[in-house]
Amino acid sequence: TEAADKTEGGVLVFGTNAEFPPFEYVGDDGEPDGFDVALIKAVGEKLGMEVQVENMEFDSLVSSIGNRIDGAIAGMTVTDERKEQVDFSDPYYEAVQFVIVSADSDIATVDDLKNKTIGSQLGTTGMFLSEDIEGATAQTYNRAIDAVNDLVNGRVDAVIIDKNPAEVFNTKFEGKVKIIDGAEFGFETEEYAIALPKGSELVDQINQALEDLKADGTFDALVAQYIGE
Ligand code: ARG
Repeated sequence: TEAADKTEGGVLVFGTNAEFPPFEYVGDDGEPDGFDVALIKAVGEKLGMEVQVENMEFDSLVSSIGNRIDGAIAGMTVTDERKEQVDFSDPYYEAVQFVIVSADSDIATVDDLKNKTIGSQLGTTGMFLSEDIEGATAQTYNRAIDAVNDLVNGRVDAVIIDKNPAEVFNTKFEGKVKIIDGAEFGFETEEYAIALPKGSELVDQINQALEDLKADGTFDALVAQYIGE
């Protein structure tokens, strides 16, 4: 990942956290798979560069950009705090936080979350939202699935996580949990983008590649294949 490698024919290493279906998960072959993984490989093809995807903890992605990894693609929401450390590509997907509760829960409004124990993945926007809820205890996990397991086991009252993974977990734990659109709780729309080193020339190159992938239909085909919209 030396600077000299960042040319056509070189190798780019992207970090992800493969605990976030359908954007990234560990495939049957033990390798990261999912929409983001397919997208960044397609970007690499456009740039004429080989892309390797490394699975790491979500909370260490931003600080690893520019040293251990060349960039990150991880369903990562563009935030002002992150923008202090990294540059983002153009957004490629719109999301919102969802709330997962047990099937028999009375939680229905944002006020119902007050003073509750709320699970989330460490370092995510879901965690930041849970920290803002009055009197609530933010309980964090390295893997979102562990937060949902604790919900099912009654150790937390709610889990805050992005819409699409919430829907996947809702299906996985069918009958035991239910999901609520965070828009009903006043949670704002979020945008996913690829995180890159500050000032990197990759930002323009990747934006161009994203534009090309949209124009030639590849982007929509990947959405249909992995997200099913
Ligand atoms: N969109 C949220 C955020 O940026 C969660 C992303 C979690 N991604 C992951 N691959 N685990 O904080």
